[in-house]
Amino acid sequence: MDISIRHIGSDDRDKWFEMRKGIWPEVPDEYLHFDMDDILASENNEVFFAFLGGELAGMIEVRIRDYGEGCETSPVGYIEAWFVYPEMRGKGVARALTQVAEDWARGKSCAEMASDTWLDNEASIRAHLKLGYFEVERLVHFVKRL
Ligand SMILES: CC(C)(COP(=O)(O)OP(=O)(O)OC[C@H]1O[C@@H](n2cnc3c(N)ncnc32)[C@H](O)[C@@H]1OP(=O)(O)O)[C@@H](O)C(=O)NCCC(=O)NCCS
Repeated sequence: MDISIRHIGSDDRDKWFEMRKGIWPEVPDEYLHFDMDDILASENNEVFFAFLGGELAGMIEVRIRDYGEGCETSPVGYIEAWFVYPEMRGKGVARALTQVAEDWARGKSCAEMASDTWLDNEASIRAHLKLGYFEVERLVHFVKRL
């Protein structure tokens, strides 16, 4: 089926939020909302929506970062969020989104693209590997209450 990609538009906020919630279901709504305006206003961020056969299928959030783990250049493109609706998975939607995000980062003078995912997110890890990304590091996050 035909996959098309376009920039996020001003009417897309609800769907964008829904897809963010799909990635981070445990995160409170207000936290998911808090950076959406900044992302839309920033030239160093971009959000692309994908459509499969005309129906909304998924999205990618990409950012220009000064540093990416394992990268040898700066700045780098960074996949901040990646989501495809469950019924649309396995049809090349994430691949198409990634290609557009990489082209966008190339256009911002980036020579490398980086990303991350959870250790137990097999689908995401396998998709990254299939799309030419290689594993560079595994991180453990800590918090101390002050
Ligand atoms: C990860 C995710 C975005 C992949 O989307 P998708 O549209 O199904 O991926 P694609 O169909 O474009 O597949 C891209 C490549 O990855 C492979 N792939 C995708 N899902 C896979 C899986 N579950 N197992 C093995 N390989 C997989 C595909 O075979 C394809 O490789 P190929 O073209 O060589 O066959 C999707 O599973 C998703 O939205 N997951 C939930 C949200 C999430 O975890 N996001 C990532 C963390 S931010």
